[in-house]
Amino acid sequence: MSLRRPAKDQPESFEFNTSSLEAANVIVAKYPKGKQQSAVMALLYIKFLDMPYIKVYEVATFYTMYNLAPVGKYFVQVCTTTPCMIRGANQLVEACKEKISENECELSNDKSCSWMEVECLGACVNAPMMQINDDYYEDLDKQKTLDILDKILNGETPKPGSYRGRVNNEPENNRKTLMDLKNA
Ligand code: FES
Repeated sequence: MSLRRPAKDQPESFEFNTSSLEAANVIVAKYPKGKQQSAVMALLYIKFLDMPYIKVYEVATFYTMYNLAPVGKYFVQVCTTTPCMIRGANQLVEACKEKISENECELSNDKSCSWMEVECLGACVNAPMMQINDDYYEDLDKQKTLDILDKILNGETPKPGSYRGRVNNEPENNRKTLMDLKNA
């Protein structure tokens, strides 16, 4: 399960740059007077609203797409929800601890990579799986995960998709049903 906690090291102060301020004003202007707090999710990508800190905190700590600590150029998200967990997601977590950092949401020694646990990424049929930036890596075990992480730490781009040779989410060893239907 993902643990949502802001990074311990926080900047002393914060100020928008000019382009972020312009973008924020455009977003806030889309909402009716008195309802501007509804812009919080869009603004968390930029930031600012006259609303209690705790309400922003609630939103930011609920959704894993808001990063609460700096992430690396390669951002590894390991799904540890039930289907992935019963298929061995803990081995993927072990691999991340060995190759990237002992704790999630910490940068690797060369600062190029970070990892975290997340809730279901919608690829349960190919569990266990992880996402690296925009790509899904599926049907993994510890060794396959170590190999993938070695590649990204060496600046290579490993092939996304199933690591048991499946085509997308088809059953292993070809289809088992609808065999009489052409193009099923
Ligand atoms: S439980 Fe892992 S992708 Fe759904």
